[in-house]
Amino acid sequence: MTTTVNVGLGARSYDILIGTGLIDQADSCISPFLAGRRPIIITDDQVATTQLPRLERALGADCQTLILPSGEATKSWQQLERLTDGLLDLGVERGDKLIALGGGVIGDLVGFAASILKRGCGFIQVPTTLLAMVDSSVGGKTAINVRAGKNLIGSFHQPSLVVIDPSVLATLPDRQMRSGYAEIVKYGLINDAAFFEWCEHHAAQLLARNSDALATAIAHSVRTKAEIVAADERETKDQRALLNLGHTFGHALEADTGFSEALLHGEAVAAGMALAYGFSAATGRCGAEDARRVMQHLDTIGLPASLAAAHVTGDGAALVAHMLHDKKMTAGTLPFILAHGIGQSYVDRTVNLADVAQFLDASRG
Ligand code: GLY
Repeated sequence: MTTTVNVGLGARSYDILIGTGLIDQADSCISPFLAGRRPIIITDDQVATTQLPRLERALGADCQTLILPSGEATKSWQQLERLTDGLLDLGVERGDKLIALGGGVIGDLVGFAASILKRGCGFIQVPTTLLAMVDSSVGGKTAINVRAGKNLIGSFHQPSLVVIDPSVLATLPDRQMRSGYAEIVKYGLINDAAFFEWCEHHAAQLLARNSDALATAIAHSVRTKAEIVAADERETKDQRALLNLGHTFGHALEADTGFSEALLHGEAVAAGMALAYGFSAATGRCGAEDARRVMQHLDTIGLPASLAAAHVTGDGAALVAHMLHDKKMTAGTLPFILAHGIGQSYVDRTVNLADVAQFLDASRG
């Protein structure tokens, strides 16, 4: 069964298709978007050995494929240049739709390349990690990392289609599954206490790749994200900013650990959400019991819910210094996503960074 979620953005609206085995049916779901042109697939060297043959087989023999190194370092000027040169060598046209087969790194890089190639061509996301399925393949934020920080050069460029086939998760390492799960539970914490409760009861099944639990969680997550993106595509209102729950703290933790495999993005978001709830409770914004429940859930399923569990060594001042590089900094103020309770997140522009530093130091116990 295929579930379709539409992202309603007027002329830039697109569908997200969710269904087991969809990659094997690319001929019927992706080919119509290619308008008879040869498929151009961009992937990484790990996905190339697992999912690429399936997609190539489904699309037919004449695919043109570019394979990039896996890992965050691929979101760079160097690989962007390599990719765009490669695509121009293949004779890419403005009407073409590049197929991004991979996790967030491939999706973000290909999306950015598509936004600038010939002043903008189309692209299709075929996410292969849980995190890319429920978060990065939807929404149109594309970017590369540069010396000054992560995702600082980029664009808003929506895909033409997102094809989510949960069967690819069979080969995803457990740690990557948990990292993606952090972005799922985030939707409950943002504005849906009932979904958080569902997560508390079904996380173990989901992480064991139970197909019903995965289908429910993925569809719920992309529906929520689609609604938020449709309401606030460019994050000019507060709705889309709520998707950054856990990301302001999390980004500082990732910076402290060198944006490395030591702390995956979803792990940093998990610890960041625990800290956002902990800070909210410590400052009287949220009840202590809700903050404890969030931390306990993350900890139970093996996600870091504290600085120590995230192996972060920087002190409060150092972590706050990382936060000052945040893209969301406006007129010297950093908006934080805090919470009044589970499912009651909000944007707070009154946070004193000295209080954050003190809280972080105190949270080490
Ligand atoms: N591409 C991720 C997002 O737009 O949120």
